[in-house]
Amino acid sequence: MSKKKIQAIRGMNDILPAQTPIWQHIEHTLHQVLESYGYQEIRMPILEATELFSRSIGEVTDIVEKEMFSFVDRNSDNLTLRPEGTASCVRAGIQNGLFYNQIQRLWYIGPMFRHERPQKGRYRQFNQLGVEAYGLTGADIDAEIILMTARFWQKLGLDNLELQINSLGSAEARAVYRNKLVDYFLANESQLDEDSKRRLNTNPLRILDSKNPQMQNLIQSAPQLLDHLDKESQTHFQQLKNILDQTGINYRINPQLVRGLDYYNRTVFEWVTQELGAQGTICAGGRYDTLVEQIGGRSTPAVGFAMGLERLVLLLESKLQLSDINPHIYMIMVGNETVQQQGFALAESLRTALPELRLITNCGGGSFKAQFKRADKSAAKFALILGEDELHKQQIAIKNLRKKSEQTLLSISELADNLKQLIKE
Ligand code: HAM
Repeated sequence: MSKKKIQAIRGMNDILPAQTPIWQHIEHTLHQVLESYGYQEIRMPILEATELFSRSIGEVTDIVEKEMFSFVDRNSDNLTLRPEGTASCVRAGIQNGLFYNQIQRLWYIGPMFRHERPQKGRYRQFNQLGVEAYGLTGADIDAEIILMTARFWQKLGLDNLELQINSLGSAEARAVYRNKLVDYFLANESQLDEDSKRRLNTNPLRILDSKNPQMQNLIQSAPQLLDHLDKESQTHFQQLKNILDQTGINYRINPQLVRGLDYYNRTVFEWVTQELGAQGTICAGGRYDTLVEQIGGRSTPAVGFAMGLERLVLLLESKLQLSDINPHIYMIMVGNETVQQQGFALAESLRTALPELRLITNCGGGSFKAQFKRADKSAAKFALILGEDELHKQQIAIKNLRKKSEQTLLSISELADNLKQLIKE
């Protein structure tokens, strides 16, 4: 009886060996930039209490209403696979006393889970790099993290991203604005789609984020939050713009930018590309000064962002020429057991002598022909061939697998020196 094939869960992907070099390159570049700005890594669990997310992201957001992977565990606890990292980071900071009277510059990387409709650039398991800064109220830290994101793109060779910024002001100013907005939409209710009618009662600011082309005129003419900001938020926003202007970062003020999570106040921003269709937001974040208190800590100002690594990979995969990561050498060993033992000893001594060497030793035996085939398939540049005769003479044969050339003999005692030259070429 044939067994049913077990497949990966819909919207959850394997990252295969052919793709990992680009992931590693991106991660390495991001690490270097984060380090250069003095940010430290924090690692949080993937599973958290469901309440953490409903209390932070917001009960009436898409994420909490319909996208969380939640379940009841064996102890009847309500748990959720994290849909984002900010709530966990705040929970970890409170629990471990990282916030009170302290400044923290933190980052994390890892998988997040949202039950969305999968498409290019949108998955049910995806990876984010997140950055969160705690303990600073000024626009300077908002500017710092935006400048850092700009440096990510520069280091990765991306020059087609647009920075959009907006200010959501204080909760009080937003409540006043919310009423005005509801009045405006109520007066034009016939033009609202079903989703927006529902949001009118729950989360009217999110109507501004609608992508429905039929509603764009209505949205463009709606009262703007930027015209209803409290004084302090206006000054904060102006200070941010001044630093961005001074440092030569281009941006567009997008008054419709409201974000899909409830915890933001004042600065919000997104980096957007035209190259990925509807899933064009590569990186997004903002200030969230009330969240720490909301989750049970002492009031702590905070600002941060997260970027979708799958989207970065999609953008970069056609552009990046990664340096060669193929093995330099495949070592073929044919003959009795002594040949194999000596071959392994030699391979180890080469790895010690030449730390940059990428060397695969043949495992699993096989005839010369079979091993040679594997050497060719490995994409190695050279094959080293050790047999009983060669070993007896303390020699080893070398053959360039990528050029038409004769096999030559090298003395084992001089092998490391010879290879040092060869792997540079
Ligand atoms: P977010 O806007 O929900 O914000 O997600 C940030 C980024 O994660 C998005 O801009 C996108 O690149 C990526 N992303 C989101 N959902 C998916 C998906 N289903 N598939 C692939 N990529 C996705 C947050 O998560 C906030 N925690 C950001 C933040 C940190 N705000 C302050 N600190």
